[in-house]
Amino acid sequence: MKGKEIKVKTACFTYRVIIEKNLFRDVGKTLRMLFPSTRALLVSDTKVFSIYGREVLESLESEKWQVETVIIRPGERSKSLAGASRIYDAALGAELDRNSPLIALGGGVVGDLAGFAASTFMRGLPLVMLPTSLLAQVDSCVGGKVAVNHPRGKNLIGSTYPPRIVLIDPDTLKTLDSRQIKAGLAEVIKYGIIINVDFFNWLENNLDYLLQGDSSSLAEAIYVSLKAKALVVEEDEYETDYRRILNFGHTIGHALEAATSYRHYLHGEAVLTGMAAATHLAGELKIITEVDLARILNIIDRVGVKMPPAGLTAAAVIDKLRQDKKRQGDDLIFVLPTAIGRVKMVPLNSRQLIEKAVSIYLG
Ligand SMILES: NC(=O)c1ccc[n+]([C@@H]2O[C@H](COP(=O)([O-])OP(=O)(O)OC[C@H]3O[C@@H](n4cnc5c(N)ncnc54)[C@H](O)[C@@H]3O)[C@@H](O)[C@H]2O)c1
Ligand SMILES: [Zn+2]
Repeated sequence: MKGKEIKVKTACFTYRVIIEKNLFRDVGKTLRMLFPSTRALLVSDTKVFSIYGREVLESLESEKWQVETVIIRPGERSKSLAGASRIYDAALGAELDRNSPLIALGGGVVGDLAGFAASTFMRGLPLVMLPTSLLAQVDSCVGGKVAVNHPRGKNLIGSTYPPRIVLIDPDTLKTLDSRQIKAGLAEVIKYGIIINVDFFNWLENNLDYLLQGDSSSLAEAIYVSLKAKALVVEEDEYETDYRRILNFGHTIGHALEAATSYRHYLHGEAVLTGMAAATHLAGELKIITEVDLARILNIIDRVGVKMPPAGLTAAAVIDKLRQDKKRQGDDLIFVLPTAIGRVKMVPLNSRQLIEKAVSIYLG
């Protein structure tokens, strides 16, 4: 496969996202051309490191990088201030300087944690993203949101700090399990619905290949998704307005995750349900045609909405919705589709209407 490249403009610099098979082999050389340093710090989780760590380390060491590693346990609990502290300790131990890259090899957890540490250590180390989960490859590696969790909530401590380069090998998805692939596909479909009708049409025709993990279809989906995200983020890096369209499915999705204590749904699974419920809301408000509504619900159905846990009530979900950061007075702001490829922000406070849409997915 010939590689593809996207350039993302930020307020301070432009960075490249390269999507290409086997590019981990050359990571040492690629970084050598970018950073005038001899030291680097690699952050990964035990699972990803056991599969891809050796290849990345060998490439770095062959280009004379002195590499220190921090390997965390997989999972959301590692995305903490304690996790960031481990990275600071290792960075000090390795005597990194301000040109030493901090390399994140893994999914969104590793990317957010390493990104947060990179943004704060010595007021900023260059961040290199090597995302390996579909969610990280189509979403979290671009846009610069970095964060750790606080015991009282997810992603409460963080900032906006873009990477200096993103290297994506779509073949890493061959070792990712199908549940994680489906969860990543939720975000992929989101871009079709919010911004790109041609991509949505393509997804309708290629969804089965994507679900089967077909490498070239996934590479194409990653490329188009990231281009869409880059377009939105370039317009509104600090999420003052336009970037909020990326939250389609996320208002209800986050409430579902929170109401189930982050144990039942993967993020993408909750977002998939949230997109379906938001589409029903748009139907109730009659701001979308029956045909487009049916096509959106159909593609979501083909990925497969996850059943909620027994006993989850609409009231519990709506309670969490009311705590949403993006509230405006009594109104909740929903991103709702008005056609395939187009969404608008709709302030809503009708509990009845929201409850009706959410209840469809509560069994
Ligand atoms: N910064 C952003 O813009 C942004 C956007 C969306 C989500 N996020 C964050 O991303 C995190 C979720 O990311 P995630 O879904 O990638 O979860 P994750 O990082 O926990 O990865 C999921 C699991 O897959 C494993 N894995 C990753 N790549 C693999 C591979 N190639 N082969 C085999 N196993 C592999 C990991 O070890 C882990 O067990 C959340 O913390 C969320 O808040 C951030
Ligand atoms: Zn998301």
